[in-house]
Amino acid sequence: MLKCAALLTATCLVEGFAFTPSPTVSLPILAHSSKPFRADNPRRLGNLGLLSTKKTAFESDYASSIDNPSDYWFNLAKEKLDWYTQPTKSLTGGLATADVKWFEDGKLNACYNCIDRHIENGRGGKTAIIFEGDEPSDVTKYSYTEVLARVSKIANMMKSNGVKKGDVVTIYMPMTPDIIFSMLACARIGAVHSVVFAGFSEDAIADRIAASGSKFVFTSDGGLRGGRTIKLKQTVDNAIAKDRAKVLVEKVFVFKRTNEDVNFVDGRDLWADDLLSSQSTECPAEVMGAEDPLFILYTSGSTGQPKGILHTTGGYLLYAQHTTATSFDLQPDDIYACVADAGWITGHTYICYGPLLNGATSTVFESTPLYPDEGRYWDMIQRHKINIFYTAPTAIRSLMRFGDEPPKKYDLSSLRVLGSVGEPINPAAWDWYNDVIGGGKATVVDTYWQTETGGHVALNLPGVHEPKAGSCRGGTYGIDLAILDPKSGEVIEGNDVEGVLAISKPWPGMARTCLGDHERYKTTYLQPYPGFYFAGDGARRDSSGYIWVTGRVDDVINSSGHRIGTAELESSLVSHPLVAQAAVVGYPHDIKGEGVACYCTLTKGTAMTDDLRKDLKQAVRSSIGPFATPDMIIEAPALPMTRSGKIMRRILRKIAGGDTELGDTSTLADPTCVGVLVENAKA
Ligand code: WTA
Repeated sequence: MLKCAALLTATCLVEGFAFTPSPTVSLPILAHSSKPFRADNPRRLGNLGLLSTKKTAFESDYASSIDNPSDYWFNLAKEKLDWYTQPTKSLTGGLATADVKWFEDGKLNACYNCIDRHIENGRGGKTAIIFEGDEPSDVTKYSYTEVLARVSKIANMMKSNGVKKGDVVTIYMPMTPDIIFSMLACARIGAVHSVVFAGFSEDAIADRIAASGSKFVFTSDGGLRGGRTIKLKQTVDNAIAKDRAKVLVEKVFVFKRTNEDVNFVDGRDLWADDLLSSQSTECPAEVMGAEDPLFILYTSGSTGQPKGILHTTGGYLLYAQHTTATSFDLQPDDIYACVADAGWITGHTYICYGPLLNGATSTVFESTPLYPDEGRYWDMIQRHKINIFYTAPTAIRSLMRFGDEPPKKYDLSSLRVLGSVGEPINPAAWDWYNDVIGGGKATVVDTYWQTETGGHVALNLPGVHEPKAGSCRGGTYGIDLAILDPKSGEVIEGNDVEGVLAISKPWPGMARTCLGDHERYKTTYLQPYPGFYFAGDGARRDSSGYIWVTGRVDDVINSSGHRIGTAELESSLVSHPLVAQAAVVGYPHDIKGEGVACYCTLTKGTAMTDDLRKDLKQAVRSSIGPFATPDMIIEAPALPMTRSGKIMRRILRKIAGGDTELGDTSTLADPTCVGVLVENAKA
């Protein structure tokens, strides 16, 4: 990106498993490898029993979900959700016309479906949330009845302070149950939540407040992670000091977590816990249309500002309910733990909505996998007898390096399903997850999906499909996956083929639009290949029909499961006065999957120093957040450009990854610049 390019200060991303990889570790990684499935190894088969029965049931259900999605989802919607007014319509609109709607005339409430109905059905005493705080001794359990009381109080507090149906509420909170309760309280009164991951910077918060026109912010005094305190209120104050947020924000609701002293602005800031003590535990749930917005979640794309991905109520809820139940083979008494952060889509769908819609017990995990030591996950699994555990390959790789001893100290025999999300799980990590954590008995389920898909779209269903290390197998119910020729857009049939991944039919959980920019939604997802939803990933289908995601085909980096737009990184680098031009690429990284490599052309007469590298890292941390911190900053006196002025990122990726086979460089305007970059990358 050239200096003169429009500066972007916003940013975004996704997965957000509570984990900071160490840059010092080195493990073999085959992130996109196609290591063959060892069909002779019985451990690769799940222990869920009744395999053939489930397989037959899946095949006939899948066939009807693809042949007649409208009827398939309509029947489930009536069976699995509670409606004030049952819908008479199922699917209307289509991908080609970018106007998909589901159950349009139905009326329901998301919070009621997550909580109240379970209480009305006599299950109010069941544990809804297990809170596992930063310290392992800090555990609190909340029954469905207790959740309803707290959520209703928060909802009443919001109403009595001016929050109305349709208002956007920005939530910047630590991973305590109150983040989930606040989301549900928004849903209860028809407000639209916009959760911003608590690792984002003040600039990123201000951008999201401004872009969504949000007048209300939820935060807490601070957060706790890995024994450290994070100053959330201070970051929110700094965000709201920026004009674009200041003009909007009317009220900031502050919850207590760390009990530290914080700045307080009279008339704007409110102590939530004080207000809640006098609120009623009863708050009627608002009657919402199925297509009313439920939430916005910002995510990075290849260009421009992060997109406010908008999910609506009825379709999203049904998809969250159905995928949670089927992807994890959820049983009524299961203890379920997804250790993502609620600030990402995984937390929305698979900590909050999906498990609660199913009346399950969901864990809210505040800490990191390394605190107080590398046995934290395993200790937690043993203490709560967790049956379903869901994490990201980057966390598995970070824990593998401590060897088998830490998990072997714990009883992990409760585990039945081991989920993985965020990137393809490389075979070495898959083997360890399967053999050491699952003891060869639990089923590893590789779930492929995106913020925009609302829920899983491709996976090996436990008890149905044999897992293959590194492959997400194929489409789940209602998902007709296609591999397209990237140039012609033609469907590539058959096996042993490669192209870009697309979905050929609408499904209820798909995002409906980008907030305030339907055109961008169309041009990003629906117009590149008319009639298909384009995921932005490459994929191949192997000789037995299994899908292998080969990674993003756009300029998005997937680092530690975080989705980071290179355009956002470049804009924060060129905002530094000594950087004239910047190009950012991902490269293979042992722990993170992809590392962030930044090539910077400095202003005339400036030389790269360690101090400048520090400054540039700081620039990224403050415009995006610490999770986007560059792994490499490489001085680039010139960037490899084609004669038409296009940066050859393919070459930059190879140089950063230490790959000496750079391929054809003859089309470059100045091939000599490559040698300099190779030398500088070693520095
Ligand atoms: C990648 C996260 C391979 C992919 C839920 C996708 C995966 C992007 C997998 C979405 C997986 C996610 N195998 N790649 N199992 N899961 N991805 O929006 O590139 O944060 O497009 O959603 O992550 O990231 P997002």
